[in-house]
Amino acid sequence: MLRNAVSSMTSLDKAFIDTPTVKGELSESESVKEIMSMASKTKSKDSIASVAGEEHVDEVDPFTIVSSDIRRLNKSIKELLGSDHPVLDTVAQYFFDIEGGKKIRPTMILLVSRATNINGALKQNASDAMDIGVSNSQIRLAEVTEMIHTASLLHDDVIDLADTRRGVSSVNSSFGNKLAVLAGDFLLARSSVCLARLRNVEAIELLANVIEHLVKGEVMQMKNLIKNPDLNAFEYYMRKNFYKTGSLMANSCRAAAVLEGHSLEVQEAVFNYGRGVGAAFQLVDDMLDFTSSEAELGKPVLNDLKSGLTTAPVLFAFDEYPKMLSLAARQYESPGDIEKAFDYVRRSDGLERTKDLAIQYSNMAVEAALKLEKSPSRDAMIRLARKVVEQV
Ligand code: FPP
Ligand code: MG
Repeated sequence: MLRNAVSSMTSLDKAFIDTPTVKGELSESESVKEIMSMASKTKSKDSIASVAGEEHVDEVDPFTIVSSDIRRLNKSIKELLGSDHPVLDTVAQYFFDIEGGKKIRPTMILLVSRATNINGALKQNASDAMDIGVSNSQIRLAEVTEMIHTASLLHDDVIDLADTRRGVSSVNSSFGNKLAVLAGDFLLARSSVCLARLRNVEAIELLANVIEHLVKGEVMQMKNLIKNPDLNAFEYYMRKNFYKTGSLMANSCRAAAVLEGHSLEVQEAVFNYGRGVGAAFQLVDDMLDFTSSEAELGKPVLNDLKSGLTTAPVLFAFDEYPKMLSLAARQYESPGDIEKAFDYVRRSDGLERTKDLAIQYSNMAVEAALKLEKSPSRDAMIRLARKVVEQV
């Protein structure tokens, strides 16, 4: 079922699948081959969360290493979002006023920056740098990335009619759809100016591609991946995940290396690190939707099924319970569908296989990080890739 051939796609599907690759990014067909071989291995139940060389990694908490930078980043973003319009200020800054949240994207950029700046000398004068291991440009990049991510969430909550986000009322439900969309646009506009000020065309191109990917991922998600017999459902799902989650992580890690003029080899290693963490993160997120409580998630559970979305746990469960296909095809809309689908998933090995696949992506991130010189920040990158899968 998961291995349907791609035959007669619509021109819209083709446009999404044949995306031109960015320098250093795996071609679409390479990515797909890799994804499918990983997915087919998940039945072996032997994914081990360690790779050769990892035994020499020190225990370092990734969030502690960057905690003071993250506090400054939050303050700086709020300053960057100041305008002469009080309503716009309030709405755009809404999420940056909320304490908590792991800030995983800027954390990754800061760790990658420190870990790679060890290999190559910083071009900037050390006195310009806010931190000994991170340049000002890399800190700005982390801010830009968090602003783009938040902009996408403001728009996403409008599309998903979400009432809550991060355990509080969502912007759309507090201020209405119009202001939520405009605040997202404003965040995107300010982040674009900050990005342009980095005066680095390659970094700008990488992040501009990310914005395109976020939009494509969201549009891909609108399509019922089951109803279209011409597309391989799992491949489509993983590609949508890359566009929605992995691309921002992979390309912003790469941009951090680009900003300091690091070699192509280093750029590729950190791109693959971000890609691996991103894929693992999304698979875990899709799994938590089945296994967590609303209080733990800060948003309603079984949200994906309720939104008609078919994710990895269900895709894997199809192998054991092909009957589920009819539920997925009608996007769990008939009374009792959600409960039935949930029950099939629980009885199948779908959750376990999803976890196995997430571990394999985490392994991929660890292998990529191990290509960098040993340092506390490199080890923290590895711990972060592990922490993502330790949640489940
Ligand atoms: C969360 O998805 C949403 C995203 C990761 C990206 C959303 C992208 C857009 C709305 C396109 C517009 C982009 C920009 C930059 C303005 P989810 O609904 O699966 O996760 P959730 O449970 O956190 O809502
Ligand atoms: Mg959403």
